[in-house]
Amino acid sequence: MSRAACVAASHIPPASRWSKPVRCARRLSWRWFPVTELLAVCPHLPGNELVAAECENLTGGIPDTEGVAFCQTVGRISQAAYVQTGLRLIAQAEALPELVRQVSERQFPADDFRIEYLRLSDQNPVKWKTAVVALADAIKAFPNLDVPRHRFLLVVGKDHLWFGEILAETSHSYRRHDAKPYRTSSSLPSRLARALLNLAAPPAQSILDPCCGTGSILLEAACLGLQAVGADRNPRMVHLSRRNLAHFGYAVEVRLADARELSMTVDAVVTDLPYGKFSKVKSGEIQAILNQSARLAPLGIFVAGGDLTAELRHAGYQDIALFYVRKRNDFSRLIYRARSGYFSDDRLTPLDLHNEA
Ligand SMILES: C[S@@+](CC[C@H](N)C(=O)[O-])C[C@H]1O[C@@H](n2cnc3c(N)ncnc32)[C@H](O)[C@@H]1O
Repeated sequence: MSRAACVAASHIPPASRWSKPVRCARRLSWRWFPVTELLAVCPHLPGNELVAAECENLTGGIPDTEGVAFCQTVGRISQAAYVQTGLRLIAQAEALPELVRQVSERQFPADDFRIEYLRLSDQNPVKWKTAVVALADAIKAFPNLDVPRHRFLLVVGKDHLWFGEILAETSHSYRRHDAKPYRTSSSLPSRLARALLNLAAPPAQSILDPCCGTGSILLEAACLGLQAVGADRNPRMVHLSRRNLAHFGYAVEVRLADARELSMTVDAVVTDLPYGKFSKVKSGEIQAILNQSARLAPLGIFVAGGDLTAELRHAGYQDIALFYVRKRNDFSRLIYRARSGYFSDDRLTPLDLHNEA
């Protein structure tokens, strides 16, 4: 079974970390390593297709099956739900001796460093202590385990090793909203709510949740600094949303309104549609909510309990992407991301709705 563990090198006996770097620091023949490659690391979560989608939207990189992506930017990883770390790649190899050789030949800022460790696969026989000690010995600088200026990460995949400097990490800021005071059986987990927003933002800066329930999506939007508006037709839900938002000090408007009658323009509609056996939606209501959503925002992110592809198309959505998130043994949430055909390619320019045939 796969185990992801982040271990600081503080477990290593100090003597072995200190010996070689001091000696090697006098060598002047290293070549500068042209550091251009960025890596995003998102440990694979079985049954959750959102991981890769979040990684692609936040970093521009598509992770491999183990969760490692060459990417364009790591600047947004702090807001991630699933992407864990952003690295500047220093070395990569199939085996430890080659990785250590590369590290010893490359020159990179490393004073006061610490090496951390992330195992993505239990099938790689590399032992973390051996690996971290060998890498620490190959770095020509002094370690500082307590207050490091440079934190390096060794990532161990099934048959590949990556070594790089940590540039970004998720702040796990969504976790604080798990302590929201009011919830129901259909409240979304904060991590999932965050991941939904990370499919929309960037580029979205303003979002609407027209079926906001207890406000899980609104809490994440407010935390990310997005302009957010919520609505629910159930007065109790509006009250609970407002209380939850106030609890964390967020100023977000929550309206008592039917999603089919809302009128405003935002960058994205992000919502957890009413579904499941306790949901009291009449037939055709989901279609009507989608129809209206397509007119309000160029981008739609929808959580559903079943296939909504036909309804999304009927509502005018295009480029429909579907991600499964397994919830329990045989139940999956379906997450849709779709582009509304009512808006031009320039995402914020609505087409003239009155010109519709
Ligand atoms: C699945 S729940 C949303 C749960 C929410 N994401 C949370 O974390 O609490 C769906 C919500 O849609 C609301 N709803 C159902 N039909 C609606 C409609 N036509 N307009 C607005 N809200 C509606 C329900 O009152 C319910 O609160």
